[in-house]
Amino acid sequence: MQIKNLFDKMDYGEAPESAREAQNWLKNHNYTFGNFINGKWKQCEDHFNTVNPANDQVLAKIGQSSPSDIDSAVKAARAAQKKWSKESDHARARILYAIARLLQKNSRLFSVLETLDNGKPIRESRDIDIPLAQRHFYYHAGMAQLMQAELPKRSPIGVCGQIIPWNFPLLMLSWKIAPAIAMGNAVVLKPAEYTSLTALLFAEICTSAGVPNGLINIVTGDGKVGEMIVGHKDINKIAFTGSTEVGKLIREQTAGSGKSLTLELGGKSPFVVFDDADLDSAVEGVVDAIWFNQGQVCCAGSRLLVHEAISEKFYNKLRNRMKNLRLGSPLDKSIDMGAIIDKKQHKKISGMVSQTKGKVFQAGSPLPQEGCFFPPTLITDLHTADPLMHEEIFGPVLVSTTFRTPSEAIELSNNTTFGLAASVWSENINLCLELAPKIKAGVIWINGTNMFDAAAGFGGVKQSGFGREGGWEGLLAYSKPKNQFSPKIKSTLVKNQISKADYIDRTAKLYIGGKQCRPDSGYSQSIFDHNGKPVTQVPLSNRKDIRNAVEAMNSAKNWSHSTAHLRAQILYYMAENLSARKAEFANTLQALTGRSDAQTEVEQSIQRLFFYAAWSDKFDGSARSVPLKAVALVMKEAIGNCGVLCDDQYPLLGFISVMAPLFATGNRSIIIPSETFSPIVTDFYQVLDTSDVPPGTINILTGKHADLAIELAGHMDIESVWSFSPSDVSRDIEKASVSNLKRTWVNNGCGRDWNSEEGFGREFLENATENKTIWIPYGE
Ligand code: NAI
Repeated sequence: MQIKNLFDKMDYGEAPESAREAQNWLKNHNYTFGNFINGKWKQCEDHFNTVNPANDQVLAKIGQSSPSDIDSAVKAARAAQKKWSKESDHARARILYAIARLLQKNSRLFSVLETLDNGKPIRESRDIDIPLAQRHFYYHAGMAQLMQAELPKRSPIGVCGQIIPWNFPLLMLSWKIAPAIAMGNAVVLKPAEYTSLTALLFAEICTSAGVPNGLINIVTGDGKVGEMIVGHKDINKIAFTGSTEVGKLIREQTAGSGKSLTLELGGKSPFVVFDDADLDSAVEGVVDAIWFNQGQVCCAGSRLLVHEAISEKFYNKLRNRMKNLRLGSPLDKSIDMGAIIDKKQHKKISGMVSQTKGKVFQAGSPLPQEGCFFPPTLITDLHTADPLMHEEIFGPVLVSTTFRTPSEAIELSNNTTFGLAASVWSENINLCLELAPKIKAGVIWINGTNMFDAAAGFGGVKQSGFGREGGWEGLLAYSKPKNQFSPKIKSTLVKNQISKADYIDRTAKLYIGGKQCRPDSGYSQSIFDHNGKPVTQVPLSNRKDIRNAVEAMNSAKNWSHSTAHLRAQILYYMAENLSARKAEFANTLQALTGRSDAQTEVEQSIQRLFFYAAWSDKFDGSARSVPLKAVALVMKEAIGNCGVLCDDQYPLLGFISVMAPLFATGNRSIIIPSETFSPIVTDFYQVLDTSDVPPGTINILTGKHADLAIELAGHMDIESVWSFSPSDVSRDIEKASVSNLKRTWVNNGCGRDWNSEEGFGREFLENATENKTIWIPYGE
């Protein structure tokens, strides 16, 4: 062929990356792998094949772990963690740094192996996955170094069980292992059954980097092995990335176990294009959003929302661009899309596409003869209620509809059970920044998509899971407060005391939507003082009362967008009004509890209101230094509707200590006061009434914790439940929270000293907020 012909045709030639080194590595292992436990390879009895999805060839045999393998790995991790947590920050930092360096020195081997095993284009594994994995270890080497100085009140959690998916095998491994070991934990990690190879190569790197034996254990196998890890009694924390379905199973399985849990799950992220967007850039954005990694990305911009005025123009541009996308051998450096992970996944994708009622466009790009490939697909003309607008397809399939106004764009964006990410495209930055706080998602990209960095937290809200990976916020998931909470003293509730009521009857009601109301049930509960003498009756709330209170919270949604200054003002006002009635509250408290320090409790309560008023406009987000031409803003946002069950050790202080941080950070709450001494809180209604508290922002329901806990945790419109209750409700709350994967913060039967540092501080503010990362690229 003549050069002139080449110029005329402008066809791409082949640019294959060599697989020789990776194949040699497999051969050196005799194409068979076991587990990496306690720094040594340990063969498994059973094996399964790992296949190259681009050509269906078997790459190697991977071990299927048994329960005793998992047990050995956990034991090794436990022993290693004891020593590791005593190492100096610097010693830990050096190991993380050594891992980062070794990943860098072997980056091409990792990239090729990843592409062989996963089917993703070498361009992506070489330029995105592996460099980001290195960056995570570098970044967290720094976090290890700074732990004592910057997080003096945090300690390691212990042994972490980590389960990762197949879409970004090494990258997900680094997101999990780097922060875990930086904070002094040990890990037992299970890669996905389709893509174990880079995790096993990583194990070798650990040996070379001087990682202590047992600190990092890699165990392989399918979902059953995942279950063994989740169920293991000596694991302190589970970190999972994968499907929402399995995430929910894990939430149920760990309920009540005391294990800490983070879940990074699926998504159906909106990609919003306004009429004034740079449409050509937005088209490139779509390519990155949904055809990167064949759309097998949890945060893929899989739901295109286009401004109606430009929709046809935009779709035409997009269809033309789709015609130029090249599918082919993932090892070819100039292809755009590689293979789907497995035939099972391919079948799922084609099944969903074949059943759609929408208008399907596929570019007709030639598909390779062999392997598991699916063409880039655009489906338009879908109704907003169409299942494909809601279900995660996890393939190269983009669904789309149109919108007319910014508020409609927000509504459509939020019309999903997921909340992982969103992209907003407009040349009007003001408009983008107006949308960013209103879209419910963990990450917002403005005029961009799929930007990631170790310094900027990543993770979801709603059914996309909870917890963050990366940044300072990511460390919260791998460390815990140094305080050792002791098992709770039994409830002080005095039961079945019969005595003549010689008090003037007081009619305590519920506090819903800024009004005192009667309970739906028509039942009340007697309250006794410390001598067992009946003092009054309080209403027993039921499910209907919770529903009413949720309605009131929903009507107060704007509260989350109120100014921090206003929230501070109201908290100061509450303090002022409580202070004016200090003596009365102290008398009631003393009469109820019989404690001589009642006056101190009231004084502490006033101080605590001041404390959170002070924090209200100071619990700031931050701007992160990311190695891109962009700023990543990490914003602290209210979670939304929250439910709390209070302790009864300090019935007033315990109530104020949970109500105030939730209020200060813009949440709406339903608070269930101490079951034993609730009248001190029903007296507080008058303080709320005189402090300009917006209706619906604070709702108070008295009643039985055991019943109300389950109702709160099961309600689909409550986003978070805290429990400091003396009743044994932690397990029930965690189990019922599966309904909408709400965040939970429970005491697992341990008590907290509300009168000490345990009772207030950043821990409460962190639990009252979500971190939202907003990426804003700059430059022309
Ligand atoms: P999956 O959620 O079943 O697998 C992810 C990981 O969890 C794997 O390591 C697997 O072995 C493990 N696992 C499976 N069942 C488990 C259990 N009961 N307990 C503990 N661990 C368990 O995902 P799968 O089957 O590979 O893909 C199914 C769908 O999940 C995809 O079509 C996609 O929609 C979604 N998915 C989402 C991902 C994300 O990053 N959000 C990643 C992978 C899949």
